[in-house]
Amino acid sequence: MASISGNERPDLRDLLAFYAAAGVDDALVDDPIDRFAESAQRQAAPAQQPVQAGEREAPRLGADRPAPPPPRPAAIAAVPDEAQAAAARELASKAASLDELKQIMADFDGCNLKATAKSMVFADGNPEADLMLVGEAPGRDEDLEGLPFVGRSGQLLDLILAAIGLDRKSAYIANVIPWRPPGNRTPTPHETEICRPFVERQIALAKPKVLVTLGGPSAKLLVGSQEGILRLRGSWKSHVTADGTVIPVMPTLHPAYLLRNPAHKKLAWRDFLEVKAKLRELGSH
Ligand code: URA
Repeated sequence: MASISGNERPDLRDLLAFYAAAGVDDALVDDPIDRFAESAQRQAAPAQQPVQAGEREAPRLGADRPAPPPPRPAAIAAVPDEAQAAAARELASKAASLDELKQIMADFDGCNLKATAKSMVFADGNPEADLMLVGEAPGRDEDLEGLPFVGRSGQLLDLILAAIGLDRKSAYIANVIPWRPPGNRTPTPHETEICRPFVERQIALAKPKVLVTLGGPSAKLLVGSQEGILRLRGSWKSHVTADGTVIPVMPTLHPAYLLRNPAHKKLAWRDFLEVKAKLRELGSH
């Protein structure tokens, strides 16, 4: 980072790099707001006295300056509530194909996360694949590219898939939440309930032979358990679709967790060996 001394101005790229390193990676409105100009204007305008009849209003300093425009909201943010979740359930059930579902989700404005995300992250890989993996929610890289698991945890996921002889042409990858929560915060229970019908319909339409949930939130949602992921992982559970199809689910650790806890990679390795054996048992190539 360049040092700022005397009249020297910081290089804008350095300033942006500083913001990114400090965790500021989202602009919530398109046009910058000059808060200094706003407060200068407020200070310049003294509290208005009532004008007596016949008395001329004294000119106020700054009164001829146009009032600053009110800040523009980034988008209309829906309040996450049961009505939005009901609307999502109704809409998702109407999708007859993955393409239709993607369009329905793109048109849906009932999830506030859409207002701050740059893109909708629907899926990557092969929708015809026997194996479907479901993560939690897109991060910054996924939001920028519009694809799931393309950042560091995605690179690790690719290595894990390669270790059992698979890649993105032989697996289908999605998330519980298709819009990045601002600053990668944990999605609220309401946001998750709103997005649940979409991912459930996505699974029902993709019809995988085997599901792998990556991390605690997607395991809890898709197998309906309150247990922590370290207890849930490693043994077969089931996901039942709306039409009653039972899909075997292997809950495993999230690649981002494995990056932070490399000693637990051996647990994920065991889980994926189970997945490989199950796929073979079910006649998958
Ligand atoms: N983590 C997730 O759960 N999903 C992604 O797509 C990326 C990171």
